[in-house]
Amino acid sequence: MEETTKRELVLSINGERRAVVARQAETLLFVLRDGLGLTGAKPGCLNGDCGACTVLVNGTPIKSCMMLAIETVGKEITTIEGLDDAPIQHAFVRHFAFQCGYCTPGFIMNAHALIERHPDADETTIQEWLEANICRCTSYQEIETAVKEALAAKKVETKF
Ligand code: FES
Repeated sequence: MEETTKRELVLSINGERRAVVARQAETLLFVLRDGLGLTGAKPGCLNGDCGACTVLVNGTPIKSCMMLAIETVGKEITTIEGLDDAPIQHAFVRHFAFQCGYCTPGFIMNAHALIERHPDADETTIQEWLEANICRCTSYQEIETAVKEALAAKKVETKF
């Protein structure tokens, strides 16, 4: 019975087409981790609150525990594994913007989207944007500093 609900999905992930067999009710988070071995997106609350599972779908940060994998067919998914050498990653390292690191991929994906979509983000926008993610080790100050540095670098880059 269960087998009849499975089907092959072809997803576009980090610039590659990946085929995976999944049930229609499986979340993107589950399929990324258990079906495709992309374990960068982390399971936390599993109800859309913590942001540990954040990935980009067509450039928009999405909590992958709240989206079905089947909904992403035909869209471009970016996970932390596909964020190769992004400035925000270096800024996080420079400012030690993590402690245990569990929330870090989600924060980085969200911050990367902010920088790409709103390079002129003001203080309020940054604060609102970062509210989508929770850090239980209280690294917020360092995370905010890293995001501001990467935003400043993006502003300089876009002037030329
Ligand atoms: S695990 Fe998806 S928001 Fe917490």
